[in-house]
Amino acid sequence: MIVCESIDALRRERKLRTGTFGFVPTMGYLHEGHLELVRRANAENDHVVVSIFVNPTQFGPNEDFNAYPRDLERDLAMLSAFPDVVVFTPSVQEMYPQGFQTYVNVEAVSQGLEGARRPGHFRGVATVVAKLFNIVQPQRAYFGQKDAQQLAVIRQMVRDLAFPIEIVGVPTVRASDGLALSSRNSYLTPEERAAAPVLYRALCAAQARYESGERDAETLRETMRAVLAAEPLAHVDYVSVADAETLCECEGAISGAVLLSMAVRIGRARLIDNITLGING
Ligand code: PAF
Repeated sequence: MIVCESIDALRRERKLRTGTFGFVPTMGYLHEGHLELVRRANAENDHVVVSIFVNPTQFGPNEDFNAYPRDLERDLAMLSAFPDVVVFTPSVQEMYPQGFQTYVNVEAVSQGLEGARRPGHFRGVATVVAKLFNIVQPQRAYFGQKDAQQLAVIRQMVRDLAFPIEIVGVPTVRASDGLALSSRNSYLTPEERAAAPVLYRALCAAQARYESGERDAETLRETMRAVLAAEPLAHVDYVSVADAETLCECEGAISGAVLLSMAVRIGRARLIDNITLGING
């Protein structure tokens, strides 16, 4: 495994190799969900680059940038299962040197859901991912479906700016009780961790209503809210039934693919989760 801290070093390593590159951008504190992305990248490409960078521009002033869990040694130990991987670990100064002033703003699809609650978040994500794409120049890049809006924003950016990169969305990896794996799960106390599968239970309850024929968007939202309300540690930020492509909130009878999503605070963790319904009509 090779670790590059600078853009120049990464570019030198890139040049030494021929064939296809799969890229897995991460903020570190890796878990099985990240490893699944790396496995996919490894299976589908000649080479894999993993970046580990806690990107300050995607955190709001009152968010958890400083507290975000970091453990590079542990991350590298986990990645050592993939001996040929190139790991890019730039500093903030390397990615955002003095005088940096160029940002990528993906408009409509960034505006609802997470974008409405976290102003500037997707501007930070799109900017860092665009810069990483320019540095790594992969043929394919791998993102988890847990961050459904992030995936939609990146797909839109790649289309609009003609990046010659295939974006691969990888299904959410869950613990056996349904909790979606996330680096932020490390914020949960044991009691909060026991409460956290309520997000997935709420999504599954709405899915069951959908499968038994319910198509009213508000009834599906109400189903999710009712499950969440039964868990005293869960504080709902939002619950959404949205068009899976535009991410616009659905009203009335739904048709086609819809994204059921939510953000819920449990203790100091703000957890998000989603499922897509109606993919096949
Ligand atoms: O999903 C993440 O971990 C981050 O948002 C990403 C894509 C690595 C950009 O910082």
